[in-house]
Amino acid sequence: MLTSRTPIVAGNWKMHLAWREAIDLVRAMRGPLNQCKKVEVILIPPFPALVTVAELVQPTAIRIGAQNCHWESKGAFTGEVSPSMLVGTCRYVLVGHSERRSLFGESDEVVRKKLAAILQHGLVPLLCVGENLAQREEGRTSEVVATQVAVALDGLSLSPERLVIAYEPVWAIGTGRACAPAAANSVCGLVIRGVLAELFGEQTAAAVRILYGGSVTAANARSYFEQADIDGALVGGASLQADSFIAITRAAQAVAG
Ligand code: 13P
Repeated sequence: MLTSRTPIVAGNWKMHLAWREAIDLVRAMRGPLNQCKKVEVILIPPFPALVTVAELVQPTAIRIGAQNCHWESKGAFTGEVSPSMLVGTCRYVLVGHSERRSLFGESDEVVRKKLAAILQHGLVPLLCVGENLAQREEGRTSEVVATQVAVALDGLSLSPERLVIAYEPVWAIGTGRACAPAAANSVCGLVIRGVLAELFGEQTAAAVRILYGGSVTAANARSYFEQADIDGALVGGASLQADSFIAITRAAQAVAG
């Protein structure tokens, strides 16, 4: 991390950990995580554990994110959770995760509506973007990622602390096949910051925090944190174990100096 942007290490638990397991994991890691004062740590539990986890980290600087939300504030949407219901518990909300896009049919337009609703409620969207393997092999990574960012942010005005973007190449998620750090850095810098500069100006583009996600481990995390345009990590599998998530967070702390 070679900039003044505070690094983020975020753990997306996806559909893992029952309520009791979530409690045990938070108890095991909240102390050591809270010692990493130069890192903003975000836990993103599944909904049934959300409030409990939020309460367990209350005395610490650890922040909470939700994995999803609807774009409406309330109504007849069985099974959905609105952004207004998250206010007071969460600061962050994931939006556009590739699993939502590919398994639940969320289009760029749905992502845009959700993102606007998240902002409207004073929460911070953690926007995920990334190309799949076919798109990468066709040489379309830049185009796909730039379009995802541009469509999601279309028509919005925002200040840089109100947005976090995660570059998560789909082929790297849960596969053990992480993107080379320099390649990830160039997508974060040239492509994502490039689009942000066109939309909001250079100053905002330079201040938005951009994370890498996709098979981040305790062994490889540092190599991402050392990249100039990568401000942290969005971690899936390795966030489900106290040891590995603490080690990743300590790596971010060490690089932050
Ligand atoms: P993995 O770290 O398990 O590859 O998952 C990444 C991810 O999708 C985080 O949102």
